Amino acid sequence: MCGIVGYTGKNSALNPVVEGLRRLEYRGYDSAGIALPTEIGKPLYIEKRAGKLKNLEEALAKTPNSTSGIGHTRWATHGGPTDTNAHPHLDNDGKLALIHNGIIENYVQLRAELEKRGHKFKSETDTESVVHLLSDARKENNGDLAAAMRQVCKQLKGSFTLLAIHSDNPSHIVGARRNSPLVVGVGNGENFLASDVAAFIAHTKVALELGQDEVVEITPTSIEVTNLAGQVVKSKQYEISWDASAAERGGFTHFMLKEIYEQPKAISDTLIGRLDGLNLKLKFKKFEKIVIIACGTAYNAGLVGKYAIEKWGQIPVDVELASEYRYREPSLDKKTLVIPISQSGETMDTLMALRYAKSKGATIFSVCNTNGSTIGRESDAVLYTHAGPEIAVASTKAFATQLIAMYLIGLEIGKRLDNLSKKEVNAIIEQLSALPAKVEQVLETVEPLRELTRKFKDVESVLFLGRHVGYPTALEGALKLKELAYMHAEGFAGGELKHGPIALIDKGTPVVAIMPAEHSVLAEKMASNIQEVKARGAVVIAISEFDFVGADHLIRIPKTDQLLQPVLAVVPLQVIAYEMAVARRNDVDQPRNLAKSVTVE
Ligand code: G6P
Repeated sequence: MCGIVGYTGKNSALNPVVEGLRRLEYRGYDSAGIALPTEIGKPLYIEKRAGKLKNLEEALAKTPNSTSGIGHTRWATHGGPTDTNAHPHLDNDGKLALIHNGIIENYVQLRAELEKRGHKFKSETDTESVVHLLSDARKENNGDLAAAMRQVCKQLKGSFTLLAIHSDNPSHIVGARRNSPLVVGVGNGENFLASDVAAFIAHTKVALELGQDEVVEITPTSIEVTNLAGQVVKSKQYEISWDASAAERGGFTHFMLKEIYEQPKAISDTLIGRLDGLNLKLKFKKFEKIVIIACGTAYNAGLVGKYAIEKWGQIPVDVELASEYRYREPSLDKKTLVIPISQSGETMDTLMALRYAKSKGATIFSVCNTNGSTIGRESDAVLYTHAGPEIAVASTKAFATQLIAMYLIGLEIGKRLDNLSKKEVNAIIEQLSALPAKVEQVLETVEPLRELTRKFKDVESVLFLGRHVGYPTALEGALKLKELAYMHAEGFAGGELKHGPIALIDKGTPVVAIMPAEHSVLAEKMASNIQEVKARGAVVIAISEFDFVGADHLIRIPKTDQLLQPVLAVVPLQVIAYEMAVARRNDVDQPRNLAKSVTVE
C-alpha cells in the first residue's frame, strides 16, 4: 500500500513525479523518495526522507534536471519508516533504482543468497533484495531491464508492484505487477506508470490496464507489455471519466470535509439509471446463499446489506471479514453468490478471499468504486459505485455509495425472486430517490453538532449504540472516531450492552445512540437502553428522526424507511469524528498508522 509513480517524456520529470506522489499520498505517508537519472551511465540522483512528502519536497530544492524518474510514498511493512528504509533502493553501483509496493515473502532467503554473492545491503526492507537480484539479472540479460524483470518476477513470492530505472538507458522505465495495482498513463510524447490513475490524471485521461504477472516497459513514445514468458500482451485501454479537479480540495479545509459534503451527489450518481433495475446477466434463482466479504468501512456497509438483502430478497446472507474468510474453510460452492465490497478494488484481504471463493466455484459479483481495479476485473459481474475519487483516508462518501449499492442489490434480488410486490418496489424506489435531498438536509443542520463535539474532546472513550441497521451504523461511527480521533470508541448493539459493555460506562462517558423509527418496538427498547446508560452517568447524544426526549442532546435527521436510515444517521457520526480530529489537532486526511488502500495481507 505504497504509492508508486514513474514518468518518462519531454518535460522535467520532477514535477509530474512529485505531483503524482502528492496524489498518491493516501496510500502511505511515512516516508517518500525519488530517483532521477542525470547522466548516462553515472549513479542516479536519489533523495529520500522519512515523514510526510513535504519533508522530501524541502530536500528537493537543488534537484538536477531529468526527463525521466520514479517516486515512491511508503507505508512501512518491513523496516521502520527511516530515510534508509525509504524507497527507492539502489544496487551496489548506484545506477539501478527500484521502488516497490507489496511484500516479498521470500526476501530472507533471497537476501542470504545475495549477501553470499557479495551484495551489500543498506536497509532492513524486503524490497532491497529485489534490486540486487535485478541488478544481477540485468547483467545476465546484456542490459535488457525488461528481460531481467521477467526473470526476477519468477523468483519472487508474495505481492508486488515494481518500477525500475537504470542510468545506462535513462528514458526507459520498467514495471511489473502481481496482486498489487499498476496502471499505465498514455500521454503524447510522454508516458506514466502509477499505482492509481490519480497520479497522472492532470496529464492524460487515457490509461492501460495491466494484468497479473505482466511486465511493462515505457519510453516517451512507446509502451510494451509482456507476460513473464516474454510474449507481447495486448492491454485494455480505457478513458478515465473523472477530471483532476475531483481530486482537489476545492474550498474545503480537508478532503474529508469535502467528501462528507459530496455525499448527496455521490448517492445520486450511484442511483442514476439503476432504480428501474440492474443490467446483470446473473441468475439469482440458482443461489442458495450470499456471502459478503469486505474489510473496514466496506464491511460495515456489508452488514447493512445483510439486513436489506435478507428482508427484500429472502435469501440468507453471511457477512465476513475478508481477512478471516479463506482461512477457516467456509462452506461454499457454485450455489453461493459472493459479493466483495471494496472502494479501492485492491484490498489484498478482499482480493484473496475473492480468489478463494472463485476457486470453490462461487459466482463473484463485486461492488467497487475504482474502475479497472483488480477486484472488479476478477469478478463475474461488478456494480460500480459512483463516489468519484475518495482522497481522505477515512472513508465517507464511498461508504454512503456502498450502502446504496447494497439497497440496489437487495431490491434487484427481491424483484427477480418475486418477493416484493409492485407497491413495495415503488415505495423503496421512492425512498431511495429521496435520499440525496435528505442527506443535504442533514448537512445543513450539523453545525451545532460540531460545537457540541468539541466539548467532548478530552474524554477517554465514546460508545455508540444502535439496533437493527443502527447497529452497523454504530460500528461505523466508532470506527471513524478511532481512525480520526485516536480515541477508544466502540459500537454495540443496544440489546447487547447489558451483557458486558455496560461496565464501560462511567460518569460523563459520551454515548451516541442511533434511534430506530418512531413508534417501533425497537425505538422503545432503545429508549430503555438509553435509560440504563444514563442511570450510570453517561451523557447521551441521540440521533433520531423524531423528537426523542430521553437524551441529553438530540440530533434530528429526516424520516426514511428503517432499512435506509444508515445513509442519514452516519452523516452526524462522520461529522463527530471529523470535528474531534480537528479539535485534537490530528491529521484529518492522513491519520497516523493508516493507509487508504491496503495491498498487503
Ligand atoms: C483500509 C482503509 C479503510 C477501508 C478498508 C477497506 O483499512 O483505511 O478506510 O474501509 O481499507 O478498503 P476498500 O478499498 O477495500 O474498501
